Amino acid sequence: MLIKKTTANEITSSEITDHKVYVNRRQFLNSTAMGVTASLLPLSLSAADNTPKPTFLDLQKSTLSTDDKLTSYKDVTSYNNFYEFSTDKYAPALLASNFPDKSKPWRVTIEGECDKPGEYDYDDLIRPFTLEERIYRFRCVEGWSMVIPWVGFPLADLIKRAQPNSRAKFVEFTTLYDPEQMPGQSRKVLDWPYTEGLRIDEAMNPLTLLSVGLYGQELLGQNGAPIRLVVPWKYGFKSIKSIVKIRFVESMPNSAWMKAGPREYGFYSNVNPEVDHPRWSQGRERRIGEFLKRKTQMFNGYGEEVAHLYSAMDLTKHF
Ligand code: MTE
Repeated sequence: MLIKKTTANEITSSEITDHKVYVNRRQFLNSTAMGVTASLLPLSLSAADNTPKPTFLDLQKSTLSTDDKLTSYKDVTSYNNFYEFSTDKYAPALLASNFPDKSKPWRVTIEGECDKPGEYDYDDLIRPFTLEERIYRFRCVEGWSMVIPWVGFPLADLIKRAQPNSRAKFVEFTTLYDPEQMPGQSRKVLDWPYTEGLRIDEAMNPLTLLSVGLYGQELLGQNGAPIRLVVPWKYGFKSIKSIVKIRFVESMPNSAWMKAGPREYGFYSNVNPEVDHPRWSQGRERRIGEFLKRKTQMFNGYGEEVAHLYSAMDLTKHF
């Protein structure tokens, strides 16, 4: 397979991120290059609202955002599922604070059924895209939910550049495998590396986001730095973190959770209050920071945008 390393010359000027945004992002990266995650320091929080000062300037506000009240920055960055570090939700914030190791380059490979495969350094990968802020509801299969101001760009924009061919029916995503940096990978909790998949039309849906930040700042390790998926109408486990590979494939990929529990975790994993998880109901959810539970909405409230993707399917069978 052809591996191509991009150079700045291959990117047209119209694709280059607004200079102010980019310079600002580089300044942030440099300030954290010594392994100190500045955003974890109390000084980076403004006393008034306990939210961090934005790193990305001039972010476009997406019209796809919800008006729901935001979950606090503290909860978003301290209550996490990231099994590569721990199965304890409070542990990734402690164990992943220096992840990824800034002295190692982060490379993302685009491969499989596409005309423009390549291996990209993280900065080269994201430079062509315009970053926006999108406030999305995020629902975990375990029954809790959050509302998060993500920073990212549509996965569709990256897919269009990769030019998938007619055999590309699905997209498979893979997380980094590096037990030295991710201590949880030395335990056989899941079949590492973590993988996930989307049907190509799900991947192309405008709601599907490749996220590089939240609350106006670079992603922290515990939230899936430096780049992760956010698919707001699906349970949170589809939103794979710390991506190193995006592969276009003809057959439906087997995800880490499908392998771990095929009766409990299907490929589609749409938020569906009418289909119980074998061990609990999916009908209600607890928004983190709220006391009373609320009713869960079909497709997490994004039905208008995505219900058509599944109109010909029996969602009790394709869960
Ligand atoms: N991605 C990887 N690589 N490893 C994980 O353990 N957990 C998933 C998803 N992506 C997970 C992952 C689950 S179960 C959830 S609910 C979300 O990440 C949590 O994202 P958050 O911690 O940023 O809220």
